[in-house]
Amino acid sequence: MFSRFPLSLTACALALAGCAQTAAFDTASVTRGKAIYAAECAQCHGATGMGGGDASLGLGAPPPTLAGLTARNDGVFPRAFVQRFVLGKVEKEDVDAAMPDFGTVGLAHMQKAGDVAQVSSEDMTALLDYLETLQK
Ligand code: HEC
Repeated sequence: MFSRFPLSLTACALALAGCAQTAAFDTASVTRGKAIYAAECAQCHGATGMGGGDASLGLGAPPPTLAGLTARNDGVFPRAFVQRFVLGKVEKEDVDAAMPDFGTVGLAHMQKAGDVAQVSSEDMTALLDYLETLQK
């Protein structure tokens, strides 16, 4: 019975080592962010942030590739910019751009239309954590 201990400890250590190498973020937060992204952003920005989502096809200007945010910002994920942009605090190049102002409609408006309009800091952090994992 005790012989099982060393084995499980080894498995644990391996799992932790694997985590440290692959996941720099709180995985629960990334999972939550992934669900928010799938519901609120993927239809335009594409399932993996590469653009080309169904709803983007009819837009005059294609939504930017979100997987390239870090590359376009000298290798640093522009967390503050993304947060401000999503909340509608950055003046858009195209004032008629189709992207919703999530600061007004909320980050759950696709799931609960007309319901929650407030963006919780947990949801925003989760979305940013997930977006950071999409960077190429
Ligand atoms: C209805 C389509 C649509 C949806 C839904 C949408 N976007 Fe956008 N997004 C756009 C368009 C179009 C632009 C370009 C706007 C501009 O240039 O002014 C854009 C621009 C952006 C930018 C600026 C990128 C840059 O490099 O300047 C970010 C960041 C962004 N979106 C994030 C998000 C996130 C996160 C979500 C989900 C919470 C989301 N978008 C949902 C269409 C959309």
